[in-house]
Amino acid sequence: MKQNNKAGKGKLFSVQAAAAPAAAFLTILIFIVSVGASAFRKDDAPVKEIRLIAINRDSVESVKAFETVYKVLMSPRCMNCHPAGDIPLQGDDSHLHAMAPKRGVEGKGVYAMKCSNCHQDTNTPGLHTPPGNPEWHLPPAAMKMVFQGKSPHELARQLIDKKQNGNKDIKKLIEHADDGLVLAGWNPGEGRTLPPVSHADFKKAWLTWIKKGAYAPKK
Ligand code: HEC
Ligand code: HEC
Repeated sequence: MKQNNKAGKGKLFSVQAAAAPAAAFLTILIFIVSVGASAFRKDDAPVKEIRLIAINRDSVESVKAFETVYKVLMSPRCMNCHPAGDIPLQGDDSHLHAMAPKRGVEGKGVYAMKCSNCHQDTNTPGLHTPPGNPEWHLPPAAMKMVFQGKSPHELARQLIDKKQNGNKDIKKLIEHADDGLVLAGWNPGEGRTLPPVSHADFKKAWLTWIKKGAYAPKK
């Protein structure tokens, strides 16, 4: 009886051992994500929900979804706050910000040119007035998160590199789709074009890109 049990266990173990590389090959990773992001969406009642997020690798689908992500990230509503230099950009043609407010260590401007001096909590009505958000600022000097000038390959790699993305893991990256400044892109103030797809479609592409393995396009 005892021996049988042992033999049984041994067999089970060897089956598992054989299955492990297969599982690794299929690379199905399960992440447990408690959805803290729902704090941003007040209409979503139960906050303490636990969701399972399966990463089901598929490089073709992932790269395809990133095409949409890239189009949005490189649109002026997003790129204007993710410049290559230390001065934000303005307008649909992404010209350098008038009066050249500087990034500063925290991304909030320097001396008398603090972003919040002009950018209020909400959009100022009228044309060519500052868009508003309580968090309106550039990424900090130590973590510039540059989009401007990046190829799809470079940008995809940068987004998932914890050294360059503000130490964001998969969970935080997923949540970032509903970040206040990201949402602000779809409420840009009068006279500014919207990003090329809706926020819902952006979020769908962002999640697909990540859940299919966050692959970077070849170029
Ligand atoms: C007002 C300036 C501002 C605007 C506009 C803005 N962002 Fe950002 N973005 C930031 C700041 C600041 C950070 C860094 C803080 C953080 O990570 O929460 C950031 C970080 C990010 C990150 C994380 C970067 C990484 O490497 O993982 C992503 C992704 C992002 N933004 C996407 C967008 C998208 C998409 C839009 C447009 C719909 C957008 N941003 C518009 C300021 C902005
Ligand atoms: C002296 C006032 C002032 C200061 C200071 C200021 N801004 Fe602005 N900003 C404006 C105005 C006005 C506009 C709108 C210009 C237009 O539409 O022609 C604007 C527009 C922008 C835009 C373009 C938004 C879009 O969707 O195209 C970004 C990005 C921006 N500001 C970022 C910043 C950041 C980041 C800081 C701080 C580092 C800052 N601004 C400081 C006045 C200011």
